[in-house]
Amino acid sequence: MGAKGFCQKFDDLAQTPPMGWNSWNKFACDVNEELIRETADAMVASGMKDAGYEYIIIDDCWHGERDEKGFIHANKEKFPSGMKALVDYVHSKGLKFGIYSDAGWQTCGGKPGSRGREYQDAQTYAEWGVDYLKYDWCNTEGLKAEGAYLTMRDALYEAGKPIVLSICEWGDNQPWEWAEDIGHLWRTTGDIYPCWDCEEDHGDWSSWGILRILDMQKGLRNYAGPGHWNDPDMLEVGNGMSTSEDRAHFTMWCMIAAPLIAGNDLRNMNETTRAILTNKDVISINQDRLGVQAFKYSEDDGLEVWVKPLANDEWAVTFLNRSEQERKIDFNWKDHPFEDPDFSYKVDFNNAQYKLYDVWKHTSMGSTQKELEASLPSHDVLTLRLKS
Ligand code: GLA
Repeated sequence: MGAKGFCQKFDDLAQTPPMGWNSWNKFACDVNEELIRETADAMVASGMKDAGYEYIIIDDCWHGERDEKGFIHANKEKFPSGMKALVDYVHSKGLKFGIYSDAGWQTCGGKPGSRGREYQDAQTYAEWGVDYLKYDWCNTEGLKAEGAYLTMRDALYEAGKPIVLSICEWGDNQPWEWAEDIGHLWRTTGDIYPCWDCEEDHGDWSSWGILRILDMQKGLRNYAGPGHWNDPDMLEVGNGMSTSEDRAHFTMWCMIAAPLIAGNDLRNMNETTRAILTNKDVISINQDRLGVQAFKYSEDDGLEVWVKPLANDEWAVTFLNRSEQERKIDFNWKDHPFEDPDFSYKVDFNNAQYKLYDVWKHTSMGSTQKELEASLPSHDVLTLRLKS
C-alpha cells in the first residue's frame, strides 16, 4: 500500500501524448551509456527538446545480472558509470529518463524480467530517479495481462516516485478495455517497421508498415484521452522511408494523438529528418489539450480525409494520399459538415468560417468559404489547421 493506504496510477502524468526518444527502432540491443549521453546532448542541440521532446528511453538489453539479494544492475561493460549516474546526466540536460522491463521472467531480448521482482525493481527504478517505464510482455506464460500490469502499477506507486507506465503487450489482450486506470499509454499493435505498407515476416511474428499500423487503430479512438493514450508504436522517421512517407507517418501519428517517441539516430540525422520531427505546427496538433484522436472522415480509392477536433473549436484536417499516383483534391467545405462519430464535436461550414493554415508549408491557404483545390503527391499529406 502507498502512503495514503491505497495504490493507484500516478494521475497527473502524460496529460498530452508523451514525447521522447527510444533506442529500440534504430539500435535494438546495441545500447550503452555513450549512446544515451550523446542522444541527450543531440536532443537539446537539435531543437527537439525545445519542440517538446522530453523522455530519453533505453529499451531492452541495458541489463546486467541480479545480485545475491535480487536487485537488478546495469550491464557493467555497457554502462560502466552505472544507471544512477546516467539518469543524473539526462536530468542535468533538463530531460527525463525512461527504462524498460518485462512482466515475464525474461525480456524479449532474453535479459532478466521483473516477474516476482516487481516491487524490488520499482524501488530500484525510483532510487535511480527513473521517470518512465516501458513494460513488455515476452515470456509471460501463465500470467494474465491485466493483473500483471496492475502489480507493476502498484509497485511503482508504492515506491513513491512518479513514473509513467507504458504498457507494451501489443494489443493482444485489448488493454484499451482495462488499462485506463493502470497505465498512461498502451501499445495497440505489434511492432512497427519502416515501410509504407508492408508486413515484415519474422517467422512466428510480424512487424508492420505505417499504413498497416494506422488501419489497426480502427475502433479505438474513444478509449484514449488525457493521461491514457493508444500507442501505435514508436516513430520510424529518419529510418529509411522517403521524405514524403516520413512526413505522412509523422503527421498521421500527430493526428491520432499518438505518443511521439522518435526512433532514429538523433546524433546523425539530416536536416530533412530534423525539420519533420521538430515541426511545431504539426506537434501542436498532437499535443492539443483536448486529446481527441482524428477520425477518418472519408476515403476514396486511396485518398483519405482525416479530421481531428482541437481545443477552442479549432480543427485539423489531413488529406492522406495512400496511392501510387498523384491525386487531385477538390473539397468544397460547405458540402462537408464534420460530425465526430464518437464525441460531440461538429461543425457545418455553411454557418462557421475558418481560416486555413498549411502546417507543413507554414502558409495561409484562404478560408473555408472557398473550395479547396490542390494536387497531392503519392504517399504524402496535406494538413491544414482550421483557425477561427
Ligand atoms: C518487443 C517490443 C519492442 C521492443 C522489443 C525489445 O518486441 O514490442 O518495442 O521493446 O520487444 O526486445
